[in-house]
Amino acid sequence: MNEPVVGSKSFAAVAINCASKAGEWIKTKLGNYQRLDEKMSPHDLVTEVDKGSEKLIRSLIMMNFPSHSFLGEEGVEPGPEASARALESVRDAEYLWIVDPVDGTTNFVHGFPFFVVSIALAHKGEIILGVVYDPSADELFIAEKGKGAYVHGKRMSVSGEETLRSSLVATGFPAEHRTALPRNLEQLRRIAPKVRNIRSSGSAALHLAYVAAGRLSGFWEIGLNSWDIAAGALLVQESGGAVGDIDGTPYHLGVRDVAATNGQIHGELLAELAD
Ligand code: IPD
Ligand code: CA
Ligand code: CA
Repeated sequence: MNEPVVGSKSFAAVAINCASKAGEWIKTKLGNYQRLDEKMSPHDLVTEVDKGSEKLIRSLIMMNFPSHSFLGEEGVEPGPEASARALESVRDAEYLWIVDPVDGTTNFVHGFPFFVVSIALAHKGEIILGVVYDPSADELFIAEKGKGAYVHGKRMSVSGEETLRSSLVATGFPAEHRTALPRNLEQLRRIAPKVRNIRSSGSAALHLAYVAAGRLSGFWEIGLNSWDIAAGALLVQESGGAVGDIDGTPYHLGVRDVAATNGQIHGELLAELAD
């Protein structure tokens, strides 16, 4: 990975600093937020804490790397079209930071301790750094392209299940209830009897980190945005897993319908997810 100019901090050091500072601040706000708004539906929430976290991360990144581009959830209008346009406008940037300042806002609002800060850095469209920080468990997951993935300084590797039958998988229920939720429910109906069990804990980024850590055999969700997936995708790849679109396309920044697994169950999961 190209290091920044001598004298400035490394990309990874800045990302870790941003994620831990924002995460600690979010934790102090648990049960203590002031303002709750709905975005595109009553299932899509935002608080002043999401906005404050993004502001903090953005200012730290821009202070260190003023020439870099930045794509953060709270700087984009709600809805899939706006998020696709926002990604298109920056996707060719030399360095692009992709940030979800709180992934798992519904959990945060309800005091369910499963939410994270997710920060990724793409170089010419390829993710080279991913950090996911879970402040409730104080777990920081980090991957650098070609250098492996780590949690608490310990190298991660995906789990060893060879079949869906012995797998613990996770999914997310989409906030868009017209087309995405019925599709997801149909997928659930097909997959539930085939796997050991299913979880749905409400943070795509943390589910991806759990696949990387070998705590889940696989994860899928439809209708996500680049900031939900970018950091977690590199965690999974650098832990030896597979990640991409549920149609089998390998991971790229525009993937919205994601499947991530330990690699061994990937084909079987995709076959079950096929419409
Ligand atoms: C959401 C979470 C959730 C997933 C939703 C996402 P947010 O992100 O990742 O698990 O099911 O699709 O939008 O809104 O909490 O950042
Ligand atoms: Ca999110
Ligand atoms: Ca978010």
